Amino acid sequence: MADKKATVQVTGQEPFDLPIMSGTAGNDVIDVRTLGAQGVFTYDPGFLATASCQSEITFIDGGKGVLLHRGYPIEQLANDSSYLELCYLLLHGELPSSEKLEEFEETITHHTMVHEKIANFFHGFVVDAHPMAMLCGVVGALSSFYHDDLSITDPAQRKRSAYRLVAKLPTIAAMAYKYSIGQPFVYPKNKLSYSENFLHMMFSVPAEDYEVNPIIAKAMDKIFMLHADHEQNASTSTVRLAGSSGANPYACIAAGIASLWGPAHGGANEACLTMLQQIGSVDRIPEFVAKAKDKADPFRLMGFGHRVYKNFDPRAKVMRETCHEVLTALKINDPLLDVAMELERIALEDPYFVEKKLYPNVDFYSGIILKAIGIPTSMFTVIFAMSRTVGWISHWDEMLSEKGQKIGRPRQLYTGAPKRDYVTVDKR
Ligand code: CMC
Repeated sequence: MADKKATVQVTGQEPFDLPIMSGTAGNDVIDVRTLGAQGVFTYDPGFLATASCQSEITFIDGGKGVLLHRGYPIEQLANDSSYLELCYLLLHGELPSSEKLEEFEETITHHTMVHEKIANFFHGFVVDAHPMAMLCGVVGALSSFYHDDLSITDPAQRKRSAYRLVAKLPTIAAMAYKYSIGQPFVYPKNKLSYSENFLHMMFSVPAEDYEVNPIIAKAMDKIFMLHADHEQNASTSTVRLAGSSGANPYACIAAGIASLWGPAHGGANEACLTMLQQIGSVDRIPEFVAKAKDKADPFRLMGFGHRVYKNFDPRAKVMRETCHEVLTALKINDPLLDVAMELERIALEDPYFVEKKLYPNVDFYSGIILKAIGIPTSMFTVIFAMSRTVGWISHWDEMLSEKGQKIGRPRQLYTGAPKRDYVTVDKR
């Protein structure tokens, strides 16, 4: 088949062709890189129709509800794999052999401790500081401790910083929580799995023995897996843009954490719980559903809708099952969870939500699970950030591996004042 092209006709100019690129799946893209030379740019705030890069890591078909990591469907990974195996897959491109997986788990385990001086950073925060503020600050500061992996042109050093980030994020996240509740920091324990270790650092205290509940550890591992990567979302694009200037990996991940914090992105799981508390009881749901539908009211149902999935979010499907499993297994009786379940039922049936394809998203269910297992609301986005770090760093590494990688530099449509002469203050 002849190469596909798009023809652009700008009024008053000769038409010209632009090549069309095809990936291994998904939409074709028009390569507009030469447009600037023709004196025009494209305009696409919010990146509604713009591919910002090429990537081999994750594929989403929002219309069909498909999410693949390196080609493997998320449902299969979530049911049969583990978070660390998924990390390996995202970072290396292929599933590991059992020896490689063991070696990788060992490497991550042996990077979980942080420099002792990092504890001092926490003591500089007020006790009610949001843990995302602590995470963002402390992760950015890691570059001052780990100088030996800051040569971003060296693939081996890039991998080492990736391993360090995946390993240390749970430690830093748990430290942020412990600091906020006035308990001593808990050191990682190498004999535990990744999710068990995180629960241990969150919930154990030196004065008592702590047994990790396997149901909770399994659910936690699934939460990590379902948040591990999601293609070119706001925070991943932020990490790529920050990294495109040659910034160090820790600074780039701190930028990703900042971007994730917003309620339209990773902050949605916390915002969802806050909303459930605001609703308070099942009988008040219709009032809030009416608010969500009212165009004059900015209120939105948090945990519903997605920019890309206009079908059920495949992660939400797995998360929904895990959510029901956890609630049943732990015999949780919490009126807020009754509100959540009833809201889910109503929104799935209400024509407004059905027509606009506003399904409960992954954050709706993850928020409920995290609440059920005793994680405080302020830690929800932190857990999302921890899980997503592997995705961010895989994209950062992929970008830096590309030949001819360029700094990200969007253009604009200028709408300010045209050129005018400055007038001194006495003459205005
Ligand atoms: N509640 C009520 N109405 C909604 C909602 C909602 N949660 N989400 C979208 N709508 C309506 C919106 O008012 C608009 O209506 P109309 O066409 O009549 O103007 C229509 O649906 C399309 O909305 P949009 O804002 O154009 O859609 P978007 O693709 O730009 O936004 C979103 C996607 C996720 C930001 C949005 O659905 C939202 O704000 N959801 C709540 C926050 C949330 O749960 N975010 C987490 C997303 S999943 C985790 C992640 O990937 O970060």
